Amino acid sequence: MKVTIVGAGNVGATCADVIASNSIASEVVLLDIKEGFAEGKALDIIQTSTTLGFNTRVVGTTGNYSLTANSDVVVITSGIPRKPGMSREELIGINAGIVKEVSNNILNHSDKAIIVVVSNPMDTMTYLTLKSTGLAKNRVIGMGGALDSSRFKTYLSLAISKPANDIQGMVIGGHGDTTMIPLTRLATYNGIPISKLLSNKTLEKIASDTMVGGATLTKLIGTSAWYAPGASVGYLVNSILNDQKRIIPCSVLLQGEYNQDDVCLGVPCIIGRDGCEDIINLDLNDIEMVKFSESAEAVRRMNQSL
Ligand code: NAI
Ligand code: 2OP
Repeated sequence: MKVTIVGAGNVGATCADVIASNSIASEVVLLDIKEGFAEGKALDIIQTSTTLGFNTRVVGTTGNYSLTANSDVVVITSGIPRKPGMSREELIGINAGIVKEVSNNILNHSDKAIIVVVSNPMDTMTYLTLKSTGLAKNRVIGMGGALDSSRFKTYLSLAISKPANDIQGMVIGGHGDTTMIPLTRLATYNGIPISKLLSNKTLEKIASDTMVGGATLTKLIGTSAWYAPGASVGYLVNSILNDQKRIIPCSVLLQGEYNQDDVCLGVPCIIGRDGCEDIINLDLNDIEMVKFSESAEAVRRMNQSL
């Protein structure tokens, strides 16, 4: 199985590292426009194979799309990241041009690939990729909900001092500081509702910390995060390549689900070999439905500004 990652920056290189070192694919191609950059990152990753014990082939290239031919999955991370004080939305103009050009180049060499969009503002970039390529909706998946959910579950596990792997929880809606919806009502600690273990006040604080999770890291590091984003992409790509059919919140085109149409937004998806194979319709309450509809409106406004 072959995965191409476009953009060998912080997020792209980490995706390549996670996918290679966990033997998720047999070949990873890392592509960037910066001369020698992807080649260098690929060489650095491959030099960990003897100590970590993996056999994934990792190839780097400066803009040679022919090396990406017949990829099963392509991850788009190319574009500029957030700087402190910047919203994801401020990246729109530059990243739109890059994402459009990259997705067309990719499809010239891998006409069956499933595309995972990471570049921000991710929900709008996912919509743009879908519209500009004309691909079927199951083949264009925006990664944001997996990351936001991992931040949510981490904060919950810290608050109850229990292992993060024993926490179930999801963040749906847009991948934006004001548009994401951490579903505190549905989160559990191995089946025990989290609301039985934490006060409303603590849950509200966890929800708001989750929503600004990316901004908090951007402020601390000076650019946006990459370890958790890279790990979240690896988790998603693993579910596609190995047909795991995991439920992962992803940004996909909605056509009536959650009362929304013609917008890409984060919802729980069954992720397998055909990409987004189904959308799970959660039984949201009235408040959650209102938040979802506000989130959709905000993302739609962003799509229109594009
Ligand atoms: P970065 O600046 O470290 O890397 C971006 C790379 O893209 C650079 O190496 C650059 O040379 C390359 N690039 C630019 N134009 C290109 C083109 N036309 N073709 C190929 N490569 C090109 O940025 P970083 O931190 O890796 O972030 C990448 C993107 O991912 C940003 O838009 C960021 O906001 C987004 N992001 C999204 C997350 C999500 O959950 N959806 C999480 C974290 C970051
Ligand atoms: C993040 O959530 C900025 O989207 C990026 O870390």
